Amino acid sequence: MKTVREALQWGAARLQHASTTPRLDAEVLLADVLGVSRAGLIARLHDTLARDAFKAFQGRIARRERGEPVAYIVGRKAFYGRDFLVDARVLIPRPETELLVERALARLADVPAPRIADIGTGSGCIAVTLAAERPDAHLIATDVSEGALAVARANAERHGVADRVDFRRGSLLEPLDAPVHLIVANLPYVGTDEMEILAPDVATYEPHVALFAGPDGLALIRDLLAQVSPAVLLPGGALLLEIGYAQGEAVARLVRERWPHAQVVLHRDLAGLDRVVEISDLWLTAEA
Ligand SMILES: C[S@@+](CC[C@H](N)C(=O)[O-])C[C@H]1O[C@@H](n2cnc3c(N)ncnc32)[C@H](O)[C@@H]1O
Repeated sequence: MKTVREALQWGAARLQHASTTPRLDAEVLLADVLGVSRAGLIARLHDTLARDAFKAFQGRIARRERGEPVAYIVGRKAFYGRDFLVDARVLIPRPETELLVERALARLADVPAPRIADIGTGSGCIAVTLAAERPDAHLIATDVSEGALAVARANAERHGVADRVDFRRGSLLEPLDAPVHLIVANLPYVGTDEMEILAPDVATYEPHVALFAGPDGLALIRDLLAQVSPAVLLPGGALLLEIGYAQGEAVARLVRERWPHAQVVLHRDLAGLDRVVEISDLWLTAEA
């Protein structure tokens, strides 16, 4: 029989070569088995672990050792202070996407009852967070994947916002039937050319429909921009798009080719990399 401390040491050692954060992973996996928080786990370091619990822990460690992300093993991931259900049907929410949420909240601070579209909602982390942070907002959340929409709906229920998030299946802006104040999108932006430089865990376990967008990664952003018109975006409305760190200039060029006077602002993430592009003032020109 092992104590919690010994089990953690065993688990971290097993993950030494499979993870860059072996101790943290072992803690999260064991806390999940015991149904406690990580802090709760640390408070029990000297407790003896029941045989069944250790067996369950061994199973989770084996999955992690094979490369499966921790979030899929425990079925949850924290995003903007809330817990989101995740499984293999959706991309695991990333911390850098919180920047997009922050910019959306800042942009809409003075807009009462905003209508927001979240394109490629995946787990629903962006749409559900915006609905929870702005109780007067109405969201339309779209995805091409029915599986992703099922997960996103469950997250909307979980966070009590299902009555204000309208989930629609369809590609890009096609499901929008009325103009909104803000379009947010974290669409796939990895180039198929870059497949081999992705972390192996990502390419093996996360849905490819959530990752890749043509050879340069810009295929979906290009198509989305081509669909923007007054039929989907209100005057004074804006777009916030998450992008790859090297795509800022290319996206700015795409925008200016169509709307020469548009405002394009690149926002950097905590690592100092271009991560979100904010596009506004599109309709100052005649070609809207
Ligand atoms: C990078 S994931 C982002 C998921 C979630 N918004 C997030 O930030 O974690 C992209 C999502 O876009 C969806 N998607 C891919 N192609 C799409 C398209 N043409 N129209 C709408 N959604 C699409 C994928 O199914 C996936 O759920």
